[in-house]
Amino acid sequence: VEQTPSKAEILGSLSLALDLVEGQVEGHAMRTCLIAIRIAEILGLSVEDKEDLYFASVLKDSGCSNNAVRILKIFGGDELVSKRKVKFIDWSSPVESLKFAIMNTEPNGSLKDRLRRMANNIGPPQEIMNEVTSARCTRGAFIAQKLNFRISVANAILHLDEHWDGRGAPFGHRGDKIPLIARILCLAQTFEVFRTTFGTGAAQEVVRKRSKKWFDPEIASIFHSIPDNDALWAELESDDLGHVASAKLPWLTSHAIDVDIDGICEAFAMIIDAKSSFTAEHSKRVTDYAVRLAEWQGYEPEPLQKLRRACLMHDIGKLGVSTSILEKPGKLTPEEFDQIKLHPKYSDIILRRIPTWEGLANIASAHHERLDGKGYWRGLTAEQLDLDVRIATACDVFDALTAKRPYRDAMPVRKAFEIMDRDLGTAFDPDCVAGLKEIYGHREEMEVAVAA
Ligand SMILES: [Fe+2]
Ligand SMILES: [Fe+2]
Repeated sequence: VEQTPSKAEILGSLSLALDLVEGQVEGHAMRTCLIAIRIAEILGLSVEDKEDLYFASVLKDSGCSNNAVRILKIFGGDELVSKRKVKFIDWSSPVESLKFAIMNTEPNGSLKDRLRRMANNIGPPQEIMNEVTSARCTRGAFIAQKLNFRISVANAILHLDEHWDGRGAPFGHRGDKIPLIARILCLAQTFEVFRTTFGTGAAQEVVRKRSKKWFDPEIASIFHSIPDNDALWAELESDDLGHVASAKLPWLTSHAIDVDIDGICEAFAMIIDAKSSFTAEHSKRVTDYAVRLAEWQGYEPEPLQKLRRACLMHDIGKLGVSTSILEKPGKLTPEEFDQIKLHPKYSDIILRRIPTWEGLANIASAHHERLDGKGYWRGLTAEQLDLDVRIATACDVFDALTAKRPYRDAMPVRKAFEIMDRDLGTAFDPDCVAGLKEIYGHREEMEVAVAA
């Protein structure tokens, strides 16, 4: 029997999804973690501190979906690209922020488009950068708290972008006022971003230049003392970063209990839903519908638990799709639709890495398949689509139709069922739709009655 994975293992794997949403190269969070832990070892920090560093590393970008819409509005274009590029500037400098804004606002637009968008952004670019950084850190700290970690983990995430000289965000704290764990992580994540793109030498130079400005000079000098033949450098090149990290943290291998796993899935549903204003609360509602429908179908507790988790996570692959496409109000171009079609595949890649989660990955990654084989991304056919998938598919569309969108009101359930009826047996399972009708067919009448 395969063992339930540990909380550290699950979150380590899911950090891949957070790398995607920040426009980072896969493994960014885990490599940041390895660098941070190495510094902690040299500093002789306690087991608890290293544990905090681990969880703060893998969750540090969990607030990142929270500013995707804002960043899209500020810069236009592909927000994943803007997010990647902004990592290479010193945004605490007004001059660099302004230069960045000029170069990166409306990257494909005319000069007029560019100036118009910049004029719409109220306040100097540096202040705007502070604002989006704050949104990310505050939200990330909230997620860490929701997952019941020690307050020191949330605190580290909250202060991740504070700088030694007091010119960071969100509070502008300086020096020792910034928690030690946050000071280590700030250096580790910056070094990682530069190293992955420009190589170790160039990244070390950035750390040298930003010592006393961004970074605690003592931590910077400890970092520079790591010799060229240190095991860390080979570890950063590993194909299995999760394994390397967990080998260093034997105390973190205790198996996750059910409430922990449910909590992680619920937190990630929030992260996923925050990515686009079009999908606010979508994962949560699809899950509620699926649980009701599965109960109607007579599910036992264990399969119900798996289906529930799969529904919370089904759109996790959307974290890898640009918000400029997710938020596009009009019709998508074929190329943009191809991008959208990749999201269940990304969900599959992310979820399947977690031991014992194959079943969950199978359900989540099939939520856009159709009974007639014309769905995406695998083009599975009726005999390959079990009841779990049929429930998830019907509930996903039911919510997509009935949810209120920024550009239209909620569609009445009766109308949604009319639309779904046209695809009965070709896209949707007739029993599942019948179940939804029985459960939700009179929802509006009931809402009116309750309101009265
Ligand atoms: Fe989807
Ligand atoms: Fe969905």
